[in-house]
Amino acid sequence: MTLARRDDVADPVLPYGTTDLLAGLDASATVALETRYGNGDLITILQTLGVGGPLRVETPWELRDEKGRHLIHAAGYAALPFGESYPPLLDFVRAFTERSRELALPQQSAASWRAALEANLVALLAHFAPSHADSRVVFANSGAEAIEAAIKMARAARPGTHQFINFTAGYHGKTHGALALTPNSDYQTPFLPLTPKTITLPFGDLEALEAALRRYGKDVAAIVVEPVQGEGGVITPPEGFLAGLGEAARRHGVLVVADEIQTGLGRTGAWFASIDAGLEPDIVTLAKPLGGGLVPVGATIARNEIFRAMLAGFGSKNHSSTFAGGSLAMAVGLRSLEILREEGLVSKAREDGRYALERLRAIQTRYPNFIEEVRGAGMLFGIKLRPVIGELPFGTRRLLPFDDATLQQLAGVLGLRALHLGGVHACVSLNSFRTVRLTPALNLPRPLLDEMLRRTEDVARRHRRAWTMLPRLPLTRLVRLARMSS
Ligand SMILES: Cc1ncc(COP(=O)(O)O)c(C=O)c1O
Repeated sequence: MTLARRDDVADPVLPYGTTDLLAGLDASATVALETRYGNGDLITILQTLGVGGPLRVETPWELRDEKGRHLIHAAGYAALPFGESYPPLLDFVRAFTERSRELALPQQSAASWRAALEANLVALLAHFAPSHADSRVVFANSGAEAIEAAIKMARAARPGTHQFINFTAGYHGKTHGALALTPNSDYQTPFLPLTPKTITLPFGDLEALEAALRRYGKDVAAIVVEPVQGEGGVITPPEGFLAGLGEAARRHGVLVVADEIQTGLGRTGAWFASIDAGLEPDIVTLAKPLGGGLVPVGATIARNEIFRAMLAGFGSKNHSSTFAGGSLAMAVGLRSLEILREEGLVSKAREDGRYALERLRAIQTRYPNFIEEVRGAGMLFGIKLRPVIGELPFGTRRLLPFDDATLQQLAGVLGLRALHLGGVHACVSLNSFRTVRLTPALNLPRPLLDEMLRRTEDVARRHRRAWTMLPRLPLTRLVRLARMSS
């Protein structure tokens, strides 16, 4: 076979144009293209479950699926503080693109939008943790990438160390370094060995932490901790754990990275969940809500001496990324922080979160065979479903084409399906298969919050027992899922 050379061929044809897309591509064509050219198996799994969309936005908080079903938007994995396409943010982006004449990707010059977001993030952090008054910021294009920067900074600041302490069910992303800190064997095994090395401890166990620090502290660069484990299924550590962690780290000279990518900027009802719980971290990572649900923005904020251990002098190019700190992303980050503040969304998240958690807990007590437990922190809710096996009617287990482990994993996605069919767009938990999460916008209007809760209760009432989600999925679809799991 000979390859086409420049001189032999005309310019390639691009089969799809933006004009077609603005006019709208129909749902089945969209699914066919994704299945053929993208992560097709994921799309097939979602389609098999009946939740694969595509979904259209009606208001920032309401969606419509391809069958015309109305959905309250409670997914977005905590990255949508204002819902989808929030008009005040879009208006600002329009003004920005019309008026700003700064470089889009100012890698080799100072830039006002980046400068202002750096200053605002440090001011914000120092407002709650004054020891961060002289901290510095490096930007990224995702949460995982913000974690990568934190890993490098911690290692540079503690030369000679090469281990990190992390916690069971923690989630820090899936790039190679971040994956090393995410102790989930499904995600890690194909890529072993991973670096950095980790010592994985039970989340919330101060004694285990103290023992590990005594034994390995000299070789540990940092403890990386989520103040509330989001992907772990919304797990809040015991009272005093985070404050004790900070104190123990200081005694042993080990740094603390607070991964606030999911919890930070209001989601849990505080600007910084770690600081609110009494932990003063050395490095803070942010991402999801900083991009206003519109553009990817990650940030790693660190004390001056830690930052400069990685980025100083001619070494100030030791870490960089072409797109990080781009002007549009910075502008959206600035406006997102402003909207959070102007609309009082952090305290609203705290109050609405308390209200909704109480109501979800009441639903759990009414339907304990469907929901095992409800957990929450601000507007981050985890609904842990009962296992779908163990309670199956006698004789039916052997009819199902799955091994036990796969069946257990199905509880979460079946929950996702049940909620979708009931009109709530929810998210799974990447490190807790039986937990479905609701991560609605922080500015979700109260009537829609009530409607989301009412629909969630309807789903529980309709099922009553978790295993009844299984026979509601047609057998052919179950078989297709079983084939994909093997
Ligand atoms: C706590 C935490 N850290 C890191 C990440 C990774 O962020 P991203 O998916 O943007 O890479 C996530 C994503 O869910 C997260 O919840």
